[in-house]
Amino acid sequence: MSAPLRSWLFVPGDSERKLQKGAESGADALILDLEDSVAPDRKPLAREMVVDYLRAHPVRRPKLYVRINPLDSTGLADAAAVVRAAPDGLVIPKVNGPDELLRVGHWLDALEARDGLEPGSTLLLPVATETPAAVLRLAEYATVPVPRLIGLTWGQEDLPAAIGAQGNLDASGAFALTYRMARSACLLAAHAAGAQPIDTLEQDFRNEPALVAACAAARREGFTGKIAIHPAQVGPINAGFRPTPEEIAFARKVIDLFAAHPGIGTIGFEGRMLDMPHLKQAQRVLALDAAFGEG
Ligand code: COA
Ligand code: MG
Repeated sequence: MSAPLRSWLFVPGDSERKLQKGAESGADALILDLEDSVAPDRKPLAREMVVDYLRAHPVRRPKLYVRINPLDSTGLADAAAVVRAAPDGLVIPKVNGPDELLRVGHWLDALEARDGLEPGSTLLLPVATETPAAVLRLAEYATVPVPRLIGLTWGQEDLPAAIGAQGNLDASGAFALTYRMARSACLLAAHAAGAQPIDTLEQDFRNEPALVAACAAARREGFTGKIAIHPAQVGPINAGFRPTPEEIAFARKVIDLFAAHPGIGTIGFEGRMLDMPHLKQAQRVLALDAAFGEG
């Protein structure tokens, strides 16, 4: 098992200072942004800076992804410019479904051939819930294979803007049903596609307790990573998506129990029933912990 990428830190592509800070942040991946965090008149400069940054960082720790602009704006021109510098992948905003990612995949086939890169080496992370059609089509990821897909993430700001909603919260301050539905469907679509489900960002980047709680909630549900917008969010996310010492201890116990009772599928343990899904989960916890190593 290779370790999932837990923390994905957005870095505005036109900020020298933040690009430098991003490298030191400890994030598993940086998303060098050419889209919404860059003012329109600075986008050409951002493209050049991102290419320079990719070339200056040939050792990819953190992994380096680039968020291009939407496919119906300068997405192709962005991809053509940055693939020369071999990013680990592209983040695709406002994407409507897997067919559009397959189109990007065809662009990448050509660009990788142009630049002498390994075919299929540029991966894709769509922001998969930014239009109403995208949310309704999430189920398609279960049946349409996208070979380059590393993960799926969801956004909380663009969908309300796209549907003329006043916001994304309900009266109690929680995400309204539309956004909870988008989030759950994104989680299931990612798992159905064999890709990483990456939870959305926390806007309030100084609120560490809220971030810690959000990571715990997301991991409990099956997300394997989370978007960050500030370096201070990286540490809590990296810690939050590792199995805890208690989980590891419990997993060892479950595995030992099954090993001590060969040929038995169901075991009673401290008043609970343990069966195959528990054993599988325990094995997954230990494999995951081993994959993260000391990192
Ligand atoms: N990546 C790298 N470094 C970052 C960073 C980021 N996303 N956000 C902040 N930093 C750096 C700052 O440059 C600053 O470094 P310095 O003091 O050495 O200059 C340090 O971290 C502390 O920053 P702080 O003052 O707390 O934040 P800020 O007010 O400067 O910036 C934001 C706040 C939200 C504008 C900034 O965090 C940001 O640009 N986030 C990413 C936005 C983005 O890409 N959005 C698109 C996806 S929704
Ligand atoms: Mg956006």
